[in-house]
Formats: sequence, C-alpha cells, structure tokens
Amino acid sequence: MKIHLIVGARPNFMKMAPLYREFKKYEDLFDVKLIHTGQHYDQKMSKVFFDELNMPQPDFYLGVGSGSHGAQTAKIMEEYEKVLVDDKPDWVIVAGDVNSTVACALDAVKLHIKVAHLEAGLRSFDRTMPEEINRLATDAISDLLLTPSLDGNNNLMLEGVPEEKIVFVGNIMIDSLVQQKDKALKSNIISQLNKEYRKGIEKNNYCLITLHRPSNVDTEEGLKVILDAFEQIAEDLNLIFPIHPRTIKNIEKFGLEEQINRMENLIFTEPIGYYDFMHLQMNAKFILTDSGGIQEESTYFGVPCLTLRENTERPITITEGTNQLVELKTEEIVKKAYEIINGDGKKGKIPELWDGKTAERIVNLFKNIRGNK
Ligand code: UD1
Repeated sequence: MKIHLIVGARPNFMKMAPLYREFKKYEDLFDVKLIHTGQHYDQKMSKVFFDELNMPQPDFYLGVGSGSHGAQTAKIMEEYEKVLVDDKPDWVIVAGDVNSTVACALDAVKLHIKVAHLEAGLRSFDRTMPEEINRLATDAISDLLLTPSLDGNNNLMLEGVPEEKIVFVGNIMIDSLVQQKDKALKSNIISQLNKEYRKGIEKNNYCLITLHRPSNVDTEEGLKVILDAFEQIAEDLNLIFPIHPRTIKNIEKFGLEEQINRMENLIFTEPIGYYDFMHLQMNAKFILTDSGGIQEESTYFGVPCLTLRENTERPITITEGTNQLVELKTEEIVKKAYEIINGDGKKGKIPELWDGKTAERIVNLFKNIRGNK
C-alpha cells in the first residue's frame, strides 16, 4: 500500500514523525513517503524538528513558502497535484488544521485518492478562525476520520458523518512527547538562557509564553493589551517568550519593541527547538499561549495553562486537563496569572488514549484496511 504523509507547518512535524517511524517498521506492507509543502521553511520553524524528531529528508519538498491564504493554498494544490499524478498513492494522510492540510486533502479526493485526517472532529465553532474552516473542509471530504478525543467523534456524528468513517485513535502528538521525553528532560536550555541573557531563572519560577494567532497579534490594540499584562506579571515572575515570525513582524510593524525591551524580567528569544521547548513546558510555573498543541501538551505535563482565546477546539484540555481560557483584557490576564502565582494552579488528568500508542493503533488500522482490500 502506497501512503503519503503530509507535513507543512510547525505543528505537523511532531504529529507525523511517530507515524512515519511506525509505518517504516512494516516496509514489506507499506511504501510510505513524506511530503513537505514548505508552508514553514525557516531553520527554526521546520528543519530543527526534522533533525530532533529523527525524520529523514522529505521525499518531495514543494517549497511553496508564505503567502495570503488563497495564494498559499492554491500554490500547495498546484504543486502537490503534480506529485499525486506522478506517484499515485493509495492513501494520503493529512494532520491538523493548517492550510497544507486542506490543500493536499482537496487535491487527493479530486483524483479519487483516499484521504485520512489525523486529528479530525475538533471544533472551536468559530468560523472567523482560518483553522476552523480548514478543519470543517478537510473532515467533510476525508474518507477516514481519526480523532484524538471522543468530543471529536460527537462533533462529526452531529454533522452527519457515518459512524464507520470515524475512529478514536488518541492523541498522536503525545507519541512524540513520550518518545522524546528523556532527551527533553536532559535539555540545558534554562542554564543556556540564563547565561545568554544574564538571568537567574529557576525551574517552576517562570511563565512560558507563545503567541501567534491573528486574532491576538495582527492588531496593535490586541498586542498592547497582552504586553501591558506581561509588564504587570513581570514584576513578580520571569517570563520566557520564544517569538513566532508572525508576531515579531507585527511587534516591529506597530513599533512595540520599546515596551518589550523595558521589561527586565522578560526573555524574548527566537523560536525554540522541540526538546528545549518541552523542557521549558514541563518546568514552567504556568504557560500562557494561544496555540492549539500547547494546550494539550501542558495538560499532559500537568502544568497550568492560560489560553488567550475566546474558545478552544480542544475542550477536553479544560474539562479534564489544566487549561483555562482567558479573555483578551489586560486585567483578566493579570488576575488569572496571579491566581496561579499565589496558589497551586489548576490540576487535571491525562485524557483517554493520550498514551504514546496512537501511531501503533493507526498502523494496525491500515494493516486491516490493506488486508480487506
Ligand atoms: C500557521 C497555521 C496555524 C498554526 C501555525 C503554527 C494556517 C492557516 N495557520 O500559522 O494554524 O498554528 O502555523 O506556527 O495554516 N514565516 C516565516 N518563516 C516561516 C514561516 C512563516 O518567517 O518558516 C512568516 C511569514 O511572514 C508568514 C507568517 O510567518 O507570512 C505566517 O506564516 P503562515 O504559515 O502563513 O501562518 P502561521 O501564522 O505560521
């Protein structure tokens, strides 16, 4: 069986690496190829993950780069279609909710090639988010919907998807965490940052921050609300803020570097690699983010997480995990941060099938599909 695994943007790499390795154990059954669209292309947004997650060079690199949603999606479709016509896989597996996900899924179904969507069924019910449109569109056209949690199954069934297309396989991103945990534990990123920025940060004594959602960082007002909150929190706690390319561009565009530079307790650094970032997550006092994946990883690590969004497509991180949503208001962010600084923070448990064995379950499923052909 010929299978293409699609990666494009940073959150895809840690989802496909364990699946790629698991398929490779059965080379007699599966001819698996890795396709990188090139949606993310920087060393620190892409290459470092290939290196650290032991992924080989992609079999096809489409090199599409950045662009508006329409231009980027169209370019991926144009380039990937050529690969599909030439290589003719039996299945294409796409992950998550980025533009590369929906573009490659669309290409494949139109050529009557089967599509499996990994991380299917998640819904924020907020159609102003580009990712929500990507999720809805990809799920609507996929043949096999692999869900990370049972809320995903419910959402899909409510949309009328036949039950036999939906399989609850668990959270594949946790496979990467489980496989790489020892290396993450050994990282010396905290002492490296202390040396570089002349600080004395200790474990459990800092807040780790990531921000890149257009709704938070694409307007000056949004960024100001957030930076004002950081200024207050930084009076009592160190902040570590690895910055996403979209966010740094906007900080420069709105002339907000001055405000960043005057915060003595803030470490403002480039995007950080996988092991180091995991180390920073597991040892943080709490995490402040607008990422999807980090809501899940913090739940797995049992570290309190404040998510700067009005909604989440990952409600299980709230009902079972350590996550809380926070409104985009300076006083709200500061209030929630101090509840954690002065208390213990939210406790949670690890959701069902977030156990490091999702890749194995998926490959077993494909062995059955292959057997039934
Ligand atoms: C994309 C995903 C988002 C995901 C995020 C993780 C979509 C719609 N969005 O958002 O769901 O959470 O990745 O990072 O697919 N840039 C660089 N170097 C890079 C990549 C991007 O400098 O390697 C800059 C470019 O100026 C680009 C901007 O970042 O225009 C945004 O990149 P893009 O891929 O369009 O979206 P993200 O905001 O990264």
